[in-house]
Amino acid sequence: MGMIRDIEWEDMKGIVRNYYSFFDELQKDPSFGLILSRDKPGMELEAAWFASLYTAILKGNAIAAVAQEGAEIAGICDVHRIRPGTSMDHVGLLGIALRREFRGKGIGRQLLEYVIKNTEGRFEQLELSVFATNKAAIRLYESLGFREYGRTHGTIKRGKLYIDEIMMYRMMK
Ligand SMILES: CC(C)(COP(=O)(O)OP(=O)(O)OC[C@H]1O[C@@H](n2cnc3c(N)ncnc32)[C@H](O)[C@@H]1OP(=O)(O)O)[C@@H](O)C(=O)NCCC(=O)NCCS
Repeated sequence: MGMIRDIEWEDMKGIVRNYYSFFDELQKDPSFGLILSRDKPGMELEAAWFASLYTAILKGNAIAAVAQEGAEIAGICDVHRIRPGTSMDHVGLLGIALRREFRGKGIGRQLLEYVIKNTEGRFEQLELSVFATNKAAIRLYESLGFREYGRTHGTIKRGKLYIDEIMMYRMMK
């Protein structure tokens, strides 16, 4: 039985496990839709990343939720204030990733709906970027009110494969 909920400190292990699985996916699929560092980061970098996400949440500069399926973390969705303390701090940057075996079951849509709802009153505009090849994700974002506002060509380079990046945004009011 699955549920969508706000992130908790105890979720780090499951989130890092999922993140590591994306490196293995990228090995098999050069068009895999997340930007990852060239090398798998060590646990010390992951702990620092998680702590900085948590700090941003406590400061009101980020929102994060997870999808939980049984004892497993199926995926995470977060929104970060793009530039806290500036005239752009009403804009949030959204990211989402589910572990492979949990995709295509409606969990991503539920997680996005939950997070978008949670941004109400806290962000006035949401932005995201997506690989132009990631058609299912683009359709999903469009169905949730995101619109393309720009596209860059060949921004993502995977060996000899160049992929375009699409920028999308959604007004919250
Ligand atoms: C993109 C992602 C978050 C979507 O979550 P998901 O749980 O797989 O998507 P859902 O099952 O909620 O499906 C959402 C919609 O996309 C469609 N869809 C999902 N997977 C699809 C596929 N492989 N092919 C075609 N359509 C697909 C569904 O039909 C659904 O539309 P509907 O609600 O109108 O029926 C998830 O696939 C993922 O984490 N992918 C890898 C990381 C990634 O690419 N992140 C996005 C970076 S911008």
